[in-house]
Amino acid sequence: MADTAPSYDAVAEATTPAATLAALESAYGLGLYAPRGITLVRGAGAYVWDIEGRRYLDCTAAYGVASLGHCHPAVVEAIGRQAATLIACSGSFGNDQRAQFYAELGAVLPSGLKRLFLCNSGAEANEAALKFARLTTGRHGVVAAMRGFHGRTAGALTATWEPKYREPFEPLLPGFTYIPYNDTAALERAVTDTVGAVILEVVQGEGGVRPGTAEFLQAAQRLCCERGALLIVDEVQSGFGRTGTFFACEAVDLQPDILTMAKGIAGGFPMGAVAFGERVAQPAIGQHGTTFGGAPLACAAARATLQVLRETDLPGQVARRSSIFFEQLRAIPSDRIRDVRGRGFMIGIELTEPVSPYIAAAQARGLLVLNAGPQVIRLLPPLILSEDEIADAVAILTEVLCAGR
Ligand SMILES: Cc1ncc(COP(=O)(O)O)c(C=O)c1O
Repeated sequence: MADTAPSYDAVAEATTPAATLAALESAYGLGLYAPRGITLVRGAGAYVWDIEGRRYLDCTAAYGVASLGHCHPAVVEAIGRQAATLIACSGSFGNDQRAQFYAELGAVLPSGLKRLFLCNSGAEANEAALKFARLTTGRHGVVAAMRGFHGRTAGALTATWEPKYREPFEPLLPGFTYIPYNDTAALERAVTDTVGAVILEVVQGEGGVRPGTAEFLQAAQRLCCERGALLIVDEVQSGFGRTGTFFACEAVDLQPDILTMAKGIAGGFPMGAVAFGERVAQPAIGQHGTTFGGAPLACAAARATLQVLRETDLPGQVARRSSIFFEQLRAIPSDRIRDVRGRGFMIGIELTEPVSPYIAAAQARGLLVLNAGPQVIRLLPPLILSEDEIADAVAILTEVLCAGR
């Protein structure tokens, strides 16, 4: 680090705590994230607070991660207990938390998915999925979808469509083709005998919150089966109750060969996972691995999360409350709204113009939302969002989207 880099004390002398922290983030951070201009320091349930004490209704859930709400007591308790027991344990050693999490996750997976690989993020999960598809089929061709997003590591990035993410880093992996999402005829043409994998989201998230049709997704499964490829379904964003079923693929009767997960899996704690079906070859020892993946602390957080999801039927609650949410959003009388779409608590509001001023205006009124591309406001609230909180979010969005030009 340069000798001239500011220290906390040096910056703090001249500024408020909020400005001090912002200055340090800007001085030391790589500058990869568009700053939202507030410093969040605390969270509880569907709310977060900034350092100045302002409260925000959080319809981002930290990019869909805080699925049970912030600092859910069951997750906090599990992390605290496990942190005092055993934090780290590598994969060659057995561990009680990992073993039990395998069994508990296995019990909620779509049928046919039996073996698991635990890692630390969505990109890592997709990276592993692509490697195992290649290992199994011996083919390096991959079919992905336009507007698909699968992460930022080399393989996952190659599967990601958006050219501005991909092109600065080319050459990436060879053999990838991109077809229009929900275009079954294009899929038929693309799955040739050199293709080892088709990778798809069930609901495209970053690409604008676009649900896949059952016809398209089932065709992907059928074509993979007929032509010797593997179907990788990326449920990093849509999994763990977010779309109103445990996994989004259940609603479209899809049985993937490989299912990737992350985000909401551990109630906010970093974790990724990949589930494999019978068509995936058994790797040899050492063919893939990770230092941190499947650590006891992450597994304890994930077990607590899974237990709350199951015991309170959060997916079912999301299904019921999201219909109220959609109804109220569709009733907002704004000619700026072109479309309201999505599934469960994965909601996109497409505008006729850029969304950034509306996102900033919502934040100024105490509501945090995301974008998905330049013209879509994306809501990924915690799954515990109540009817009153839905009404509050809709009231703020109405105010913002109906304001005079
Ligand atoms: C569908 C999907 N796949 C993969 C990823 C990458 O996950 P991560 O950021 O944990 O690497 C994301 C992240 O937004 C995602 O939405």
